[in-house]
Amino acid sequence: MKLVAIVGSIRKESLNMELAKYIQKTYKENFELEILPLNDIPMYNQDIENEAPQSVLDFKAKVKAADAVLWITPEYNATIPGVLGNAIDWLSRVDRVMLGKPSIVMGTSMGNLGSVKAQIKLRDILFAQGLQSPVLPGNEVYIGASHTKFDGNGNLTDEGTKVFLDQVITNFMEWVKLYIK
Ligand code: FNR
Repeated sequence: MKLVAIVGSIRKESLNMELAKYIQKTYKENFELEILPLNDIPMYNQDIENEAPQSVLDFKAKVKAADAVLWITPEYNATIPGVLGNAIDWLSRVDRVMLGKPSIVMGTSMGNLGSVKAQIKLRDILFAQGLQSPVLPGNEVYIGASHTKFDGNGNLTDEGTKVFLDQVITNFMEWVKLYIK
């Protein structure tokens, strides 16, 4: 199984990126996970959507080739960060590479609520006409107090969160089979 992760933070020490790296490392026997950085994705503009820059074409091609997408996002101002919304706008247009492609949503924040508002909105966005991505039902991953749970080297140090994530990833791998031809 070939998966991609899209992380809603381009901060160098992003804790959401830490979570993506932890999943990549921990489940490497179960699936190949490529993390797609959003640093080089320019602002979406409808004027150029049919002649998109190469970085966008490469990004879309990787999403298209993946069996499923892991969305891992912080919350900015009670919603998803602009970099993530921008990437989604590109994915939702022209060849609409998310159509029918399964997703899982998760995220972490330093506060207690673990990016819940952003994630609820992201789940809804993934059902929009331009995306139509089925999202793993339930299995909501709201990891709060993130600064106490990662060590800065892609390691999750909180045992309870590890056990919970293990169950969610197991559920996801079983569910995603419904969509892989
Ligand atoms: C935040 N943060 C934040 N946290 C939250 O729980 N609710 C919110 O609405 C916001 N809003 C917000 C806006 C902006 C512009 C910033 C920079 C931050 C805190 C944010 O979730 C926290 O910094 C995360 O750790 C950022 O994720 P990364 O970069 O560590 O992955």
